[in-house]
Amino acid sequence: MSLTWSALPIAPDEDFDGAPLLRTEFVLEEGHGPVARATLHATAQGVFEAYLNGNPVSDDVLSPGWSSYEWRLRYRSYDVTSLLQPSSVLGVALGNGWFRGRLGWSGGSAYYGNELAALAQLEIEFADRYVQTIVTDNIWKAGPSAIVSNDLYDGQTIDARRHSNAWLAPNFSDEAWTGVHPAELDFSTLAPYSSPPVRRQEELPPIKIWTSPAGKTLIDFGQNLVGWVRARVQGPAGTTVTLRYAEVLEHDELGVRPLRTAKVTDRFILSGGEDVFEPTFTFHGFRYVEVDGWPVELTADALTAVVVSSDLRRTGEFECSDELLNQLHRNVVWGTRGNFLDVPTDCPQRDERLGWTGDIAVFAPTAAYLFDVADFLRNWLADLAAEQRAADGMVSFVVPDVLKYIEKPSYFPPPESTAIWSDAAVWVPWALWQAYGDLQVLSDQYDSMTAHVRRVESLLSPTGLWDTGFQFGDWLDPTAPPDDPISSKADNGVVATACLYRDLRILTETAGLLGRSGDAAHFAELAERTKSAFNDHYVNDDGTIHSDAETVYALGIVFGLLDVETTQLSGKRLAELVAESGYHIQTGFAGTPYVLDALTATGHLDEAYRLLLQRECPSWLYPVTMGATTIWERWDSMLPDGTINPGQMTSFNHYALGAVADWIHRSIGGITPLQPGYSRVLIAPQPGGNIHWAQASLETRHGKISVSWSRDDGGPIELDIALPQGVTARVQLPGTRPQEFRGGRHRVSSTPG
Ligand code: BGC
Repeated sequence: MSLTWSALPIAPDEDFDGAPLLRTEFVLEEGHGPVARATLHATAQGVFEAYLNGNPVSDDVLSPGWSSYEWRLRYRSYDVTSLLQPSSVLGVALGNGWFRGRLGWSGGSAYYGNELAALAQLEIEFADRYVQTIVTDNIWKAGPSAIVSNDLYDGQTIDARRHSNAWLAPNFSDEAWTGVHPAELDFSTLAPYSSPPVRRQEELPPIKIWTSPAGKTLIDFGQNLVGWVRARVQGPAGTTVTLRYAEVLEHDELGVRPLRTAKVTDRFILSGGEDVFEPTFTFHGFRYVEVDGWPVELTADALTAVVVSSDLRRTGEFECSDELLNQLHRNVVWGTRGNFLDVPTDCPQRDERLGWTGDIAVFAPTAAYLFDVADFLRNWLADLAAEQRAADGMVSFVVPDVLKYIEKPSYFPPPESTAIWSDAAVWVPWALWQAYGDLQVLSDQYDSMTAHVRRVESLLSPTGLWDTGFQFGDWLDPTAPPDDPISSKADNGVVATACLYRDLRILTETAGLLGRSGDAAHFAELAERTKSAFNDHYVNDDGTIHSDAETVYALGIVFGLLDVETTQLSGKRLAELVAESGYHIQTGFAGTPYVLDALTATGHLDEAYRLLLQRECPSWLYPVTMGATTIWERWDSMLPDGTINPGQMTSFNHYALGAVADWIHRSIGGITPLQPGYSRVLIAPQPGGNIHWAQASLETRHGKISVSWSRDDGGPIELDIALPQGVTARVQLPGTRPQEFRGGRHRVSSTPG
């Protein structure tokens, strides 16, 4: 049932350091019997925390998150029945959040508006069905909080001398407070919040506290994570404790250069009593913290790292006999957690943290195995579609598209659809359909998917190739110089045309599934034309592909652009290139997710394993050997000599290159969907390297699928599987015939007979 709002959006008459408190008191009406149910609907322009009678109404933080506010401002609905009292106080604390805080690297802020505002409607239903409604309106009062400054990038300052909970109790004397006034809000943008909310996920203690060569106090939490530090401290009133956060150390000191202009610093001003500080209107990507001004000896129990993320349910697991690979996999999991904070972001630490479309385009299948990301990504896709509708079908580089507001350097490309990045409009819904088998996502996104492809159609050359205009291409090819991440070996036209072909195949199938036969025929025909153009212009008779880079072979093979014979020839050439590189990775954002699949599909499993298990730089495992606990943006974000890569973009928590976990789940773990949603699966681990056991499991919509296999040196593979009822599996071990299984537990051995 859609909600009818009678509340007014209200803004404080004074800004109170960008963190105002808003409050009202009310008395429960009498004569209607007991309260049956009370629901608070609330949102903000900014971020909010709501309280009823001194209690937080929920454990979510940073609500209502970040959406394309111009079209979608989401509200949360909380059951607050148990918090009501005959005389009640409803309070809302506001912070700048994404609405008014800094966004992007230009130093600018307040892209969505200059004024923080709250909208709240408390509906109290009594036993006789009478409903008393308390709303934000012009009788609310506004006052200061203990927060002196707050920003997602720069951090938060809290002055505990200003802290008091009195505003949350009845009969608070509010003389020092101001009034409120109506704020601007388009009510048609309001939508219920459908993602899992952002919550505290877990807490980590420091593993080490020490003094650096420069005399700084440093803390190591042992894990690169996203959230903040909660501090418990007592000292002279007015003392300022400063916490500066970073992901890495460089030359034994805090390595803050990768943060660029983000200050990532919290300041806590002590009250004189025992204070607990928790900066919940910011978040940081960090493993290390530098502490300054701590008034007494700093002990580990005084500081706790609080991990914050969208509250996603973990669904997929993987483990094997190779501990480095296990750490790589854990790094992918932590990268997902940290970057799935309401919006799927590129990174969580520097002055960026944006919903870069290309990153999630390639990572969505991995994320959808590890966590239930259906609601999370469907929400994001709704923003993508909203932005796209306002941009004539163009899919922006980032969603929500704040780049349209920020000042960009002159070399920055003009906005236009680009391969992989804009293909998120098609690839992300497809990944969700494959993972969860719910056609609704394709039907909801159909207009967006088709608008993307039609826009790209309008950008094609007369040859039918997508070879003009700006492309990120095989972004961050490891052979590109640090300051020129876009100069890749792979030709942009080859990459973009291959991606378009993938779009068209997906759309042909989608249109068919949705009964749009006219569209299906159009996309099928365009797919054929695109494939012919690709082969005519880019593919040579000997199976080599224009620009002869690993990425072009990976895409040509995996996206199905080549005939059977050329596929084999291309696979051979790819394997040669991989060997020539000494089994060091040579691909960027475009090729990396597909290179192992391309090798495997063309009979080069050994090369795939050698590439995966390489430890020297550049490789997936090199960062692991350097102690990484998340996936890095660059293969060599940290150089072998322990210095940070000199490039401007050097994050230590970027999930894109972790897309290899998808291959790991399917090829080592052995679980591949044959039907969307895993109602029918292929269980076909392909052991290699020196891995002698692996286990993988996945909570599907039908129940849990588990696989574990082991093999002794040269011996047979022993495979154990468990399937939920209703799921069928084709099981295939190397060198054996496929067998069919239904729900239950089964054991299969690769020994013939
Ligand atoms: C981001 C990337 C993104 C890229 C596109 C970077 O600054 O961190 O992950 O996809 O820009 O160019």
